Amino acid sequence: MQETKFQPVAVDTDDEPTISNRQIVCCSKRKVAVAALISFLLLSVIILATMLSICQSKWEPTEPTKSPLTYTTIEDQTPNPDSPPVSTNCDRICSTPEDIRTCVFTWNVSYYYSLTWPCGNCPFDIADCYREECIPLNGLKRPLVTVNRQVPGPKIVVCKNDIIQVTVNNYLDDMTGITFHWHGIDQLGTPAMDGPSMITQCPIPFGLSFVYKFKADHAGTYFWHSHIGSNRADGLAGPIIVREASDPHEDYYDFDLTNHTLMIQDWMNITQNANYVKYLYSAGKNEPDFILINGRGKGPGFRNLKNPFKIAYTPREVLTVEKGNRYRIRLMSNAFTGCPMKVSVDNHSLAAISMDGFPINMVPFDSLITNAGERFDFILNANQTVDNYWLRVEGIGKNCERTYIRPSLQEFAILRYLGAPDTAPEAFENSIIDAGVVFNPTERQKYDKSIRIVNLTSLNKQHIHT
Ligand SMILES: *[C@@H]1O[C@H](CO)[C@@H](O)[C@H](O)[C@H]1NC(C)=O
Ligand SMILES: *[C@@H]1O[C@H](CO)[C@@H](O)[C@H](O)[C@H]1NC(C)=O
Ligand SMILES: *[C@@H]1O[C@H](CO)[C@@H](O)[C@H](O)[C@H]1NC(C)=O
Ligand SMILES: *[C@@H]1O[C@H](CO)[C@@H](O)[C@H](O)[C@H]1NC(C)=O
Ligand SMILES: *[C@@H]1O[C@H](CO)[C@@H](O)[C@H](O)[C@H]1NC(C)=O
Ligand SMILES: *[C@@H]1O[C@H](CO)[C@@H](O)[C@H](O)[C@H]1NC(C)=O
Repeated sequence: MQETKFQPVAVDTDDEPTISNRQIVCCSKRKVAVAALISFLLLSVIILATMLSICQSKWEPTEPTKSPLTYTTIEDQTPNPDSPPVSTNCDRICSTPEDIRTCVFTWNVSYYYSLTWPCGNCPFDIADCYREECIPLNGLKRPLVTVNRQVPGPKIVVCKNDIIQVTVNNYLDDMTGITFHWHGIDQLGTPAMDGPSMITQCPIPFGLSFVYKFKADHAGTYFWHSHIGSNRADGLAGPIIVREASDPHEDYYDFDLTNHTLMIQDWMNITQNANYVKYLYSAGKNEPDFILINGRGKGPGFRNLKNPFKIAYTPREVLTVEKGNRYRIRLMSNAFTGCPMKVSVDNHSLAAISMDGFPINMVPFDSLITNAGERFDFILNANQTVDNYWLRVEGIGKNCERTYIRPSLQEFAILRYLGAPDTAPEAFENSIIDAGVVFNPTERQKYDKSIRIVNLTSLNKQHIHT
């Protein structure tokens, strides 16, 4: 046997032939060919089977393993005999006399990802985009910080004087601490529940729970958000609605539906923390990439092999109304960068009835401008032709308004009358809409017709803070 330089060990040429030598000696060319063919076929089957199993496992909604945590709470949760009865769903018509409840919520805070397993075949199969734990955003795949795998987070809907009790379980397994703030709620008598980290409380550490408990003593539209670091821009925010039995504006609307809540926000295609470091040390700008309405929008399109010429998009938010009714819409801005947003509904003039949780004398308007943290309740009179209409949200602040090199940031929801087709409105998305009477512009924002805060009058004098 010939020695090669890859076989440095000396081989005695008198030895018996090695196995390979024997094969070469005994095998005919035909047998070699058949053996090669069989090996090739076997290999192909194995490769194909492996590929199929990878493809299948990719879309199976499997649960990632959760680390085994032990929980301790700072509060004994055995019901207090003086507490109102416990309820896990307080979204109801508020009555007189009041049936006050303790409204309990359990929030698991964890890292998560958009458009992942639970989304199945979204956006090619639109129904999949509405599956539980599917967060489609605007089609962008990115890390999120969530409560119960929802963006926006769970809605808190209660009646005035209910007790809100939220158990927060911190599953942020990179040891990030967490606190929550209940934006707009005064916390009279419960300052320790207000949430700013290192001011009213230490952050809740990873692996532990904390129970927030406070009274919803004032009706209005509020929202909750994380009050540590920047993760309220990455998914940790959600609506709070406090209704009351005798609302001063009740004659102006027919419906105050829980699903007519609009949480709008500017949105990055990377986490806000990553963006902030980039802003400070590299790119030098703090411009959001997108606007989301109730966590949804139409961003980059998708193609698949089944239908290569069709581009699929994640669905936009839809508000359904029935012609002839008047609806109370509750809007809240969870903006993070300097990005005030202008909100309007094509072919509908609107009327504001409440701002930041305080009722005001009704103010008709065509567009309104909302800054970070502001809330507006307005009436939408569904008195137009049965059709689909754009609800437009346009960025107008220095970080997202139109410049010479880029258009303004925009996103849309669809106002759909019952009976209208399940399609997008016909009006162009980028049509320039006359802003009309603009409610709440700042001094810097010049419009022909505007109504500013100084023009508002509170409906209830006792609500004026002195
Ligand atoms: C929170 O996590 C725990 C532990 O995994 C689980 O039992 C519970 O169902 C979760 N709650 C919610 C609301 O997701
Ligand atoms: C993210 O945003 C930046 C800045 O707007 C842009 O350059 C980049 O292409 C975006 N990436 C994706 C995946 O959209
Ligand atoms: C909102 O709720 C009402 C009734 O509860 C329902 O008829 C309507 O379809 C819902 N709209 C959306 C967009 O889910
Ligand atoms: C909405 O208003 C526009 C502009 O005034 C008009 O052209 C359009 O026909 C209206 N759409 C409907 C459905 O009434
Ligand atoms: C529709 O409602 C708005 C707001 O209430 C009102 O200004 C307008 O005149 C109404 N239009 C029609 C056609 O009834
Ligand atoms: C709003 O208030 C300002 C200052 O008092 C006043 O000049 C303006 O005319 C008012 N505008 C409206 C629409 O009432």
